[in-house]
Amino acid sequence: MPSLAFFVSATVLFAQSTVAFNCSTKPVYVDIHKRAVHDSPVFQYGSFIGVGTGETASATSAQNHSLWPSLSQNYMSFGAHSYCQKSTLSKCADSTGGFYSSNQSTTFIEYKDFKTLDADSNNTLEGYFGQDTLRLYTHFFETDGASQTLVENSTIEVATSGAIVPGRVGMGPSSTLLQDLAGREMIAGKTYSLYIGQGFDRAGGKVNGSNVFGGYDSGRFTGIPHQYPMNINNVNPMSVRIKDIVITNTMSGTNQSLFDTKDFPDMKSAPQTFEAQITTEQFPLSLPYQITQNFIKALNGQKDNYWGDNSLKLAQNHNATLSIVLEDGFTVTFPPEVLRNASNITPIQNRDEDDNTPFLLGSAFLGQVYLMADYDSNNFFLAEAVQKNNMVMPVTFCPKSTPEAYERPKQNQWQSQGLIGAVIGGVIGGLGCIGALYCLYVSWLRKSDERRLKRDLARNEAAKLEQMDVEPAPSFEGPPTKSVKEKVMFWKKG
Ligand SMILES: *[C@@H]1O[C@H](CO)[C@@H](O)[C@H](O)[C@H]1NC(C)=O
Ligand SMILES: *[C@@H]1O[C@H](CO)[C@@H](O)[C@H](O)[C@H]1NC(C)=O
Ligand SMILES: *[C@@H]1O[C@H](CO)[C@@H](O)[C@H](O)[C@H]1NC(C)=O
Ligand SMILES: *[C@@H]1O[C@H](CO)[C@@H](O)[C@H](O)[C@H]1NC(C)=O
Ligand SMILES: *[C@@H]1O[C@H](CO)[C@@H](O)[C@H](O)[C@H]1NC(C)=O
Ligand SMILES: *[C@@H]1O[C@H](CO)[C@@H](O)[C@H](O)[C@H]1NC(C)=O
Ligand SMILES: *[C@@H]1O[C@H](CO)[C@@H](O)[C@H](O)[C@H]1NC(C)=O
Ligand SMILES: *[C@@H]1O[C@H](CO)[C@@H](O)[C@H](O)[C@H]1NC(C)=O
Ligand SMILES: *[C@@H]1O[C@H](CO)[C@@H](O)[C@H](O)[C@H]1NC(C)=O
Repeated sequence: MPSLAFFVSATVLFAQSTVAFNCSTKPVYVDIHKRAVHDSPVFQYGSFIGVGTGETASATSAQNHSLWPSLSQNYMSFGAHSYCQKSTLSKCADSTGGFYSSNQSTTFIEYKDFKTLDADSNNTLEGYFGQDTLRLYTHFFETDGASQTLVENSTIEVATSGAIVPGRVGMGPSSTLLQDLAGREMIAGKTYSLYIGQGFDRAGGKVNGSNVFGGYDSGRFTGIPHQYPMNINNVNPMSVRIKDIVITNTMSGTNQSLFDTKDFPDMKSAPQTFEAQITTEQFPLSLPYQITQNFIKALNGQKDNYWGDNSLKLAQNHNATLSIVLEDGFTVTFPPEVLRNASNITPIQNRDEDDNTPFLLGSAFLGQVYLMADYDSNNFFLAEAVQKNNMVMPVTFCPKSTPEAYERPKQNQWQSQGLIGAVIGGVIGGLGCIGALYCLYVSWLRKSDERRLKRDLARNEAAKLEQMDVEPAPSFEGPPTKSVKEKVMFWKKG
């Protein structure tokens, strides 16, 4: 007969493994793209998050920002108005993600003697800490406006100096936002997913990104996600091991491994697999010295510093892709237009022989993959990102589970399931959509009536019905063409 201790321990185990997470809780989706931000005339790329409460106590009085996601910083941070007086950040006034006045928020309370947990000495902000109301905006349809998830009394940092973009979504292992959301049961657990996109200047692309707190966007990736353990003692807790890097000439189809001693006889022996940390703190990749040298030889690279990050420039005008092969075989390929942009700048950084800082996979890497982090089990997943024509399909990321990609239905299935109206609404309205099934998810289909569809149709005579056979790309708030003042009004309207 089992002892009492057995029952007690079994109950405790059961409690830990199931009762702790309510995986019916919906995730919070926050998109990343360019928009108007508080106290700046310049549209900035980042996560749509507001902070603070004005006299009217509604969202219209919030200070809206575009925050850059950070995988090492643990706090939500906002640039103070004085930030650029002391910062070495280039184009500072136009790059902070907005400016925050804590004295204009009725909900801000400063924390005295707060001890920061941030440990990345090279990417640290200085400032003061306190609590305020965070407003996580979910914005799908321009005409519908954004819905907000309020996170009251959440820890924030007001950055007064530093060398980096001060407006940040702090998603490090001790993220206060994730703790608040999970602790208040607003999301299922401490899970977070990121597609950083390519719509910012350094990447030079158009595709926008997204954050999902407590979930992942199942329409944003394809294939089976690959699982890796976190090392939460590292400043960048997510790292992978790289076993090969292959350059493929797109014309001839020939492959050249940067690990190959025959092609690169400078190397006495084949290079070892190496560990590289995933970070959003820089754009380019920083690879071992010898691999970088081989890259320079293979593609005729030159030192350059156009973006202030020592990214190499390619002299030779040939098209190639670069594939990074991880230890478990997962391969991430940079297409030719990313490997060498219009000005021949690459996403690979020069590296000195005596440099012993960690090897890094920067935002250029995250532009190709979808990252799903589970801070409850200290594991993370990578999968190939679906960049264009994606459907936004946020689903709950239950801690300790493996995310699954959304199965795309065939065109005729869409028709037979009667989803076409939603697609038309999404495409024709030029709205924040997305994809037919997500429209269902937000119950938009139920709300939308024929009158509205007709009105949208009339407004968009040039509607391209042939777009029906592709999944509509998200076309969040298109930048208006009028003056800056009108622009700001237009964007604030959302
Ligand atoms: C789990 O979450 C769902 C949706 O938020 C809620 O309806 C349900 O009551 C929760 N269950 C428990 C056990 O808390
Ligand atoms: C990304 O968002 C911008 C708004 O900042 C929009 O103009 C653009 O069309 C979006 N890009 C894509 C590929 O949807
Ligand atoms: C901030 O954004 C929200 C959501 O779009 C909007 O309702 C609000 O008016 C904006 N606040 C300001 C001050 O523009
Ligand atoms: C609010 O703070 C800003 C910047 O710190 C300062 O310039 C301004 O005078 C302050 N306003 C009030 C009413 O204290
Ligand atoms: C900061 O940079 C210095 C010099 O570049 C380097 O030695 C150090 O390891 C870096 N620190 C971290 C935490 O990355
Ligand atoms: C937030 O903090 C203020 C001041 O400490 C307190 O009055 C308020 O009740 C708190 N709100 C919540 C939702 O905890
Ligand atoms: C390529 O980089 C240059 C800087 O050298 C930049 O001005 C340009 O916008 C980039 N072009 C593309 C297409 O990314
Ligand atoms: C180059 O590598 C790719 C991917 O492994 C492979 O499909 C292709 O056949 C290779 N090309 C040649 C010429 O070996
Ligand atoms: C490289 O690719 C671009 C776009 O695909 C094309 O316009 C260009 O001619 C190609 N260059 C070479 C040398 O093949």
